[in-house]
Amino acid sequence: MVALVALVLLATSVTLSNASPWELDPLRWAGGTSIYFTGPDVNNVPYEVPEGCVVDTAAFVSRHGARFPDPGSYQGWVTLASKIHNASFTVSREGSDLDFIKTWQPVVRHPTEDVAKLNLLGYQELYDMGVGYRYRYPDFYTPNTPFVLWSNLYSASPRVVDSARLFTRGYMGPNSTMGSIYVLNSKDPLAIANSLGPSDACPTYADTEGGNSTATWNGIYLPPITKRINSLLKGNLNFTTSDVSIFPTLCTYETAITGKRSQWCNVFSDSELRDFEYAQDLRYYYGHGPGSLKNSTMMLPVLNAIVKSFQNGPNKTYTNSDGTTFVPPPLLAMFANDGQINQLVSQTGVFDDESPLPSTYRPKNQRYLSNRFVTMKGTVGFERLTCSNQQYMRITLNDAVYPVPSCKSGPGASCPLSQYASLIAKKNQAAGSLVEVCKINATQRTISEKTNTATFLFDLALPFAQVVKP
Ligand SMILES: *[C@@H]1O[C@H](CO)[C@@H](O)[C@H](O)[C@H]1NC(C)=O
Ligand SMILES: *[C@@H]1O[C@H](CO)[C@@H](O)[C@H](O)[C@H]1NC(C)=O
Ligand SMILES: *[C@@H]1O[C@H](CO)[C@@H](O)[C@H](O)[C@H]1NC(C)=O
Ligand SMILES: *[C@@H]1O[C@H](CO)[C@@H](O)[C@H](O)[C@H]1NC(C)=O
Ligand SMILES: *[C@@H]1O[C@H](CO)[C@@H](O)[C@H](O)[C@H]1NC(C)=O
Ligand SMILES: *[C@@H]1O[C@H](CO)[C@@H](O)[C@H](O)[C@H]1NC(C)=O
Ligand SMILES: *[C@@H]1O[C@H](CO)[C@@H](O)[C@H](O)[C@H]1NC(C)=O
Repeated sequence: MVALVALVLLATSVTLSNASPWELDPLRWAGGTSIYFTGPDVNNVPYEVPEGCVVDTAAFVSRHGARFPDPGSYQGWVTLASKIHNASFTVSREGSDLDFIKTWQPVVRHPTEDVAKLNLLGYQELYDMGVGYRYRYPDFYTPNTPFVLWSNLYSASPRVVDSARLFTRGYMGPNSTMGSIYVLNSKDPLAIANSLGPSDACPTYADTEGGNSTATWNGIYLPPITKRINSLLKGNLNFTTSDVSIFPTLCTYETAITGKRSQWCNVFSDSELRDFEYAQDLRYYYGHGPGSLKNSTMMLPVLNAIVKSFQNGPNKTYTNSDGTTFVPPPLLAMFANDGQINQLVSQTGVFDDESPLPSTYRPKNQRYLSNRFVTMKGTVGFERLTCSNQQYMRITLNDAVYPVPSCKSGPGASCPLSQYASLIAKKNQAAGSLVEVCKINATQRTISEKTNTATFLFDLALPFAQVVKP
């Protein structure tokens, strides 16, 4: 069973790249634009369910799958192409890895239709993901029965809802119309602390994209690369550090869009690529990760809801706000964006022992690496293990197990569920409730400040949710 799952989940990346996850494959070392890959087992804990345990409840929050660039990035590509073609230049070493830029054009064929949406690899990986979850949890779903899941609305692009739809098709197969996606409008004032995009309703939230830390590191790592690349050109083409800073993302985007390995993947050397990845790590760490003050606490209400549902266990009946009742499926599937993935990971505890990332050098033994969980389709997984009648929490990032450093006494380095609940309760105390953090007016406080727990997993009748079919 496990081997089959691995095959299914890896099929996509094998087509595109034969590299092992440890190698400096440019498709996998590009921060949030990295193509999904199963995380390497950096913590020496196998993904297999530990002997003597069963997973009886699971949850995941996943980023949308591989996608086309957003409008701003796409404009950047168009501008870069016109800069290159306006110049007259030769590449000094004939046959070098830069030759292709003479005829390079952006690969988006239908910009009006495609920009910001999922691309073909996204379709494939989401469908495969649905199939992969059925393989992993064969007891969780009975064919031709309803299935519910949740998605952020993300009004800027349908890519998040589309990811949930395609996942559902893979999970349910030909009769996926029996699936219902509860799409939560995170911008509705009633959805405060009760959505999959809580920062959208939080006036005190500000993503600095890494601010000074990223700026400092960019000032260190980009000039030498820019100089090296410009030295390969003869003529009046002169790349700026800002031009060069997107080359690795052209590699990942183009490869996913065309299904063929992009020539941009050969432009950065291994150590340059590693430096580029570090810039992405700083962007996430200080943008909305562990180094972003309380900006990283936005997903605590969702984490609290997951913990609550694990404590209640599967088969519990909840009463919706319209008085009807509801038993959630044993797999709680949720889709959102990179910011939410990063905020959630930051509060799970798995990086609690990591020292703040320095902005002037790359630290040794860095564990917080954005390319291991905010890839396209990056997934934070939660499993409730039941072993001899005891319950444990296990957390996975892109299907690699990440123990909580202060709580790993259970089987497979898992954390006894009651201890995990205490750890998260302490994080809530330290953070304060989200309505306080966001300085939300009393009249807008729609869920209890004391519990700071999202209710959407337990209530299918919320006014800011709409049902979308797969
Ligand atoms: C390229 O040349 C065109 C026409 O001269 C000009 O309008 C455009 O701004 C130039 N683009 C860049 C990126 O230099
Ligand atoms: C889909 O539903 C139809 C109608 O209930 C049923 O006949 C068919 O067997 C189902 N297909 C699968 C793959 O279960
Ligand atoms: C960022 O750098 C500027 C200029 O060096 C400095 O004035 C500012 O205080 C720094 N901000 C932070 C948050 O460190
Ligand atoms: C390229 O630009 C850099 C800085 O933008 C400048 O220092 C350098 O002289 C330029 N080189 C050429 C050949 O124009
Ligand atoms: C988010 O980060 C910004 C910039 O550092 C800061 O001004 C703001 O207070 C932070 N917001 C929260 C909720 O922590
Ligand atoms: C939940 O209910 C299903 C179906 O009745 C049963 O097979 C399963 O053992 C129950 N799970 C738990 C943890 O009680
Ligand atoms: C919060 O309440 C105050 C006083 O009632 C009001 O002036 C302010 O506009 C409210 N802010 C929001 C965001 O509703």
